[in-house]
Amino acid sequence: MSSDNSSRPLCLIPGPVEMTSTVLQAHSTPATAHTDPKFVEAFGQVIEKLRTVVDTKTAQPFVIAGSGTLGWDQTAANLLEAGDSVLVLSNGYFGEGLADCMETYGAQVTRLRAEAGNRQTLDEIRQALQQKTYKLVTVSQVDTSTGVLGDVQGVAELVRDVSPTTLVVVDGVCATAAERLYFDAWGVDVVITASQKALGCPPGISIVVASQKALKVLSERKTPVPAYYVNWNRWLPIMRSYEDRAVKYFATPCVQTIFALHTALGELLADGGMERVFAAHESTSKRVKAAVASWGLKTVAVAPEVSATAMTAVWLPEGIQAADLLPKLKARGVVAAGGILAGQAQRYFRLGHMGITATQDNGYVDVMLKAAAEALEECGHAIAPASGRASPPRL
Ligand SMILES: Cc1ncc(COP(=O)(O)O)c(C=O)c1O
Repeated sequence: MSSDNSSRPLCLIPGPVEMTSTVLQAHSTPATAHTDPKFVEAFGQVIEKLRTVVDTKTAQPFVIAGSGTLGWDQTAANLLEAGDSVLVLSNGYFGEGLADCMETYGAQVTRLRAEAGNRQTLDEIRQALQQKTYKLVTVSQVDTSTGVLGDVQGVAELVRDVSPTTLVVVDGVCATAAERLYFDAWGVDVVITASQKALGCPPGISIVVASQKALKVLSERKTPVPAYYVNWNRWLPIMRSYEDRAVKYFATPCVQTIFALHTALGELLADGGMERVFAAHESTSKRVKAAVASWGLKTVAVAPEVSATAMTAVWLPEGIQAADLLPKLKARGVVAAGGILAGQAQRYFRLGHMGITATQDNGYVDVMLKAAAEALEECGHAIAPASGRASPPRL
């Protein structure tokens, strides 16, 4: 079940990710009505399996054509009313974007920023929560610009303790199905994600899972939802209907991408389920971080406990720019990503190792680490022979 066998470079950015050939085949099914019983069954199963991925019994998945950003709009439009207060824990580019989106819907946003490569301490968050009652607090489980891991469990516990009415919203676009998250046990209210990252599917599906508490906030709104397409009142009957294996129409679902997601979720949850998936991401990530250290380089994330397992952002040596390195990596068969932090974009590069790169024995990590070591050397960075081209051992 490896991806296609062509000689194209591997796409090892922090999403979109490599996909299995079975997912690619599912994505190329012929024209199929959204009323077709095969599609109805696949869609129903997708909704059920997404609950398993985030470990919830009662929360409601919304599966809507769009990208991860649409999940920000879904959350803001449905759960916020103009003037509501939101605390955004911002660890980089995507935290800032999420804050901008909330402001677009009239929220009063407080941004609690961490230094590049770090996250807020629980004490800082506690202080912020004690100063004001927030309707939502948002945490990016992985900010893809830095590879910093948010402390979802810690934040959810704190919110329960200090401000139990506040909803805990997780941006899991670069985290869901790679980083551990136990929705019900941790007391999360919203997980925002998308199809093209650790779920192992093409881009095109915005996924939001909302707790019953969040849906109650929606039902008790004083003002109408200020959006048409993302209004959950229109989507709830659709999701419930497909889950009951019956057709209901609001807007045309992305049939082929949902078939692909159905296949990807089936593969993800086979043979050991999410615990196997999380363990595979953790051991892959340790391997990548060990390789980075062996190259004499530092990750942007300042410590292991704030480091994502889905991806790694790496500071480049003085004098080497991302624009020098990336074409040399590509020439060795690996597409990696440059930086996206304002003013620092050329100073670091990013490797994605989520989805089948972590969960399947396809050798992608070997290719990635060998290519990166060689490309760095070609840029003039000396790597000690013992740790250079040879891939670090599997953990
Ligand atoms: C953490 C995070 N949030 C949101 C987004 C936006 O998702 P999309 O590009 O699918 O709209 C991304 C994209 O990479 C992301 O990494």
